[in-house]
Amino acid sequence: MSLIYWTSTHPCLRVSPALHCLVMLKTIEWTDRGVVLLDQLQLPARELYRTCTTYQQVADAIHRMVIRGAPAIGVAAAMGVALGVKNSPAPDLPALEKDFDHICEVMAKTRPTAVNLFWAIQRMRATFKHAAPGGADAVRAALVEEAQRIYQEDLAQCAAIARFGADLLPTRAQVLTHCNAGALAVAGGYGTALGVIRSAVEQGKHIRVLVTETRPYLQGARLTTWELHRDAIPATLITDSMVGHFMQQGNIDCVVVGADRIAANGDTANKIGTYTIAVLAREHNVPFYVAAPFSSIDLSLSSGRDIPIEERSPEEVTHIGGVSITPADVPARHPAFDVTPARLITAIITERGVARLPYQQSLRALAEARWPDGRAVAAASSS
Ligand code: MRU
Repeated sequence: MSLIYWTSTHPCLRVSPALHCLVMLKTIEWTDRGVVLLDQLQLPARELYRTCTTYQQVADAIHRMVIRGAPAIGVAAAMGVALGVKNSPAPDLPALEKDFDHICEVMAKTRPTAVNLFWAIQRMRATFKHAAPGGADAVRAALVEEAQRIYQEDLAQCAAIARFGADLLPTRAQVLTHCNAGALAVAGGYGTALGVIRSAVEQGKHIRVLVTETRPYLQGARLTTWELHRDAIPATLITDSMVGHFMQQGNIDCVVVGADRIAANGDTANKIGTYTIAVLAREHNVPFYVAAPFSSIDLSLSSGRDIPIEERSPEEVTHIGGVSITPADVPARHPAFDVTPARLITAIITERGVARLPYQQSLRALAEARWPDGRAVAAASSS
């Protein structure tokens, strides 16, 4: 399904008056015209924003990775559901509920691994139920509001993750990151793993970043280097296969990555290749950090064994930029994620604080954390 071009540029917003080089990127935005997305398939060659005017276009954009990264997928799904319900011609509540259920089903089928997608749909379902006594128009208004709340919370959660994580980085460090867990992988702003790096730089730490290219989709080469370059944070691109060499040379002080789904025991699904990096980090005594919001944590799964792994088209392996790099008909596989066992993870950095082994207990404790007045810590941090 084709998307509608909106404009080739978009106004940026400064996040930190103290650090002029850091300019906030907007990955996604709710507007009166529809849901505006920065097209990640075009980066780094073109900074192109597209407006989705139907929920089907939002679902298609998630599926084709026009927008990608676990938290961004969650925000996009919420906005897609809100858009679908807002546009629904249903005359009454029962008819609207039927449309709503269908829209949620379409969204849920876009990508299977990032739990943020299902978390966001669940929040929209709860909002529908809560607003239903007010009738169809009240439900429409409540869902639009909820999608915008999810967006705002995502920005605030990333800022909190960034602050907690920055404290873990040494004053002078070369940090390795994999895939893209930056502004492009969330609603915008800091990002998760890149947020930790951005915040450490804001604190005045001397951080250099090693970026893995992240075969086969090249999120590291295309997106992470683009983001870091834009913020004038020193970044060097390496191929995925060079990580062991640089660790052996003592060139990597720590690893920070994002997450697509974290099980209750801390096992973490992230971009394919993450597990290999974690094994190497353990071998070389390099701290391995995961930075992710609670919307990426799935406490209903006891371990990573149960995390569904998306299998994408083999063509993404046999072709680069649409050009075949293999003889015709060579079979290829493309599991898009792998699972890093919790024991290899030094700490999980969330918006509620930093969890350490055993994660079964530490994640549960953070999940249940309350301010003295009884409010959930996450809700307070995102208000
Ligand atoms: O397939 P993608 O690009 O959606 O996968 C993204 C990743 O694996 C990211 O590293 C992860 O979602 C963390 S996003 C903050």
